[in-house]
Amino acid sequence: MKNYRWLLAVLPLVFFCFSKKPDFQQETAEKVQRAYMKGIYQLQEHIDKLIAEEKKGRTEEELIPFFLKARECFKRIEFLLVYVDNLESKNINGANIEVNNYTYLTPKDNIEPHGLQVIEDLLYNPDETSRAVLKQELQLFKELIQTIYNRNLSFKLYGFKEYNLIVWDAIRYELYRIEAMGITGFDVPDSQNSLPETAEALSGLQEVIQLYKPFFSDEKGKQLLSSGVRRWKQAIDYVRKNQHDFDAFDRLTFMKEHLHELQKWTKEAILYLNYEYPDEVRPVSKSAAHLFAEDFFNVRFFASSSTPEKIQLGEKLFYDTVFSAGNKRSCASCHIPEKGFADGLRKNLSIDGLEELKRNTPSLLNSIFQTKQFYDSRAGNLERQSWDVIHNEQEMGGNMALIIQALKSNPAYNKLFKNAFSNGEINQNNILMAVASYVGSLISLNSEFDQYLRGQLPDLSPEVKNGFNLFAGKAKCATCHFMPLFNGLVAPNYTDTESEILGIPKEKTKPYKLDDDLGRYTYTRLDLHRNAFKTSSVRNIELTAPYMHNGVFDTLEELMDFYNNGGGAGQGINLPEQTLSSDSLHLTKKEISDIISFMKSLTGKRNSK
Ligand code: HEC
Ligand code: HEC
Repeated sequence: MKNYRWLLAVLPLVFFCFSKKPDFQQETAEKVQRAYMKGIYQLQEHIDKLIAEEKKGRTEEELIPFFLKARECFKRIEFLLVYVDNLESKNINGANIEVNNYTYLTPKDNIEPHGLQVIEDLLYNPDETSRAVLKQELQLFKELIQTIYNRNLSFKLYGFKEYNLIVWDAIRYELYRIEAMGITGFDVPDSQNSLPETAEALSGLQEVIQLYKPFFSDEKGKQLLSSGVRRWKQAIDYVRKNQHDFDAFDRLTFMKEHLHELQKWTKEAILYLNYEYPDEVRPVSKSAAHLFAEDFFNVRFFASSSTPEKIQLGEKLFYDTVFSAGNKRSCASCHIPEKGFADGLRKNLSIDGLEELKRNTPSLLNSIFQTKQFYDSRAGNLERQSWDVIHNEQEMGGNMALIIQALKSNPAYNKLFKNAFSNGEINQNNILMAVASYVGSLISLNSEFDQYLRGQLPDLSPEVKNGFNLFAGKAKCATCHFMPLFNGLVAPNYTDTESEILGIPKEKTKPYKLDDDLGRYTYTRLDLHRNAFKTSSVRNIELTAPYMHNGVFDTLEELMDFYNNGGGAGQGINLPEQTLSSDSLHLTKKEISDIISFMKSLTGKRNSK
């Protein structure tokens, strides 16, 4: 050691000679990465502590405070962890449910759940066998965190500017996550510790943003940063002040006055830093000011081949009876525009008029914003969906060869196809693409509720506001009906549509009997999809009674009674797999009526094309 002491004296000199202008990109990226590593390390420490306490033989109840501390550590780094360590993150805080990412061609193995949500369940709902599982889960978690730590140790930043870009993108997505998943209690169903966790997540972001101070060096930048710091502080203070009562938290105010301001600020900062993604090919558009902005979704992502000409052609086809056997009905016979593109019937009739169809006709408004179509999720896109309906013997009983022949003999259609497609052909592909383009253009995201959050409507009634706060809080509706679509498209990436098991009864008279329809199982044959149905949107629900895949509930009051009493399993149906909690929600009459008022505030017109 002694021999090298001279080096210490010379080193600064060497550095001085070789140092160029300070490289903020590198310096900051490294600082952020160090902060991230420190966060992982702290999470690890808290898990070690939890494991040590478990070994001492403490009860589950005694372990809970240690667990909550570990979760709060996780929340501080969540934004980066789910981004740069995405693969592991699913086993860190993935949903506590077995899944199967079944696609049409490749059946897959079921994926077992692991991580914090599983641990929460084991701590809050222990039984004779759960302690052994808890030990295993904790050990697994520890190893996973170690893996993440080690990988990041040797993690070669693939470009400092790129890393910084990722960090800001991750901040943006974390703000969406907090709104659509965090404050709703999505990942903490038992502890409901989501408000303290929200404060931690926001502080984690705040800390990282401050590391970018050198970038905000001119007058404009300084002002921008200081307004950001102020906004962040206000948001965190607001949560801290109100974090102790999950049910009473005013989510709407928090969203409008704080979260949306942070989202707007982040968008501005990203512009200022010039960190924009070059070409946006994701569901969320880069220009959106906040989660409820008119342009939040990048429609191109969902309807990549749509053009005004295809929509025009598709519209004509939609109202034409040419698809059906004997020209008896059009798409619009069942999807009626004035009825929110549903039909108001419990179930429509087969084309010969003799039988009921298997399922209720769903609304087509916003159906584009789903990665799976039909109640059983059997179609991956709208083209595939149209093919299915046209050929369905009961629904349309169409014959593609005859349809093509009929369209070819019609001069108006010849012209429209020429306008819409470069090859101008009247063939199956083009027909389906045109119909899909029209259905995909049925977007309706401008309800009173949206207008209020966009500042276009001064106020909402107290009932609607309270109803929303219940929907997104105490009644847990928004943990399946994700904002801002209020359907099963999972936030914050919006790339996957979920199904759930609710235990829908055959008839609404009690005692309930489970409906015969096996839902997603009909098509995947996987047990975990038995009785699972795609989560439909709550938007425009005022126009589309009766409700659910079998139209069993005629009114929203009946539907609320079903949810308030724990779904099917809460009301006598033997269905342990139900993914809706079977506990009562303990909603009062007034609360139920407020939730209904809120749902009605989601009725909108079709967006202009
Ligand atoms: C006889 C009534 C009827 C006709 C005619 C009909 N549909 Fe449907 N549509 C339904 C029913 C019922 C479902 C639900 C079926 C299911 O989930 O299994 C449905 C589902 C859909 C869906 C899926 C929506 C979602 O959110 O999952 C789309 C899209 C759709 N139809 C479009 C069309 C188009 C386009 C046409 C004309 C080519 C058409 N429908 C003709 C009754 C009809
Ligand atoms: C566990 C997930 C889950 C939760 C929690 C949940 N829903 Fe649903 N919701 C669904 C699914 C899945 C469907 C479609 C079920 C079907 O058609 O069989 C649905 C359907 C609906 C529909 C009917 C849509 C239609 O067009 O027929 C409404 C309205 C609705 N939910 C409102 C609510 C409200 C209000 C709450 C809270 C009290 C709530 N949901 C909680 C999953 C959920």
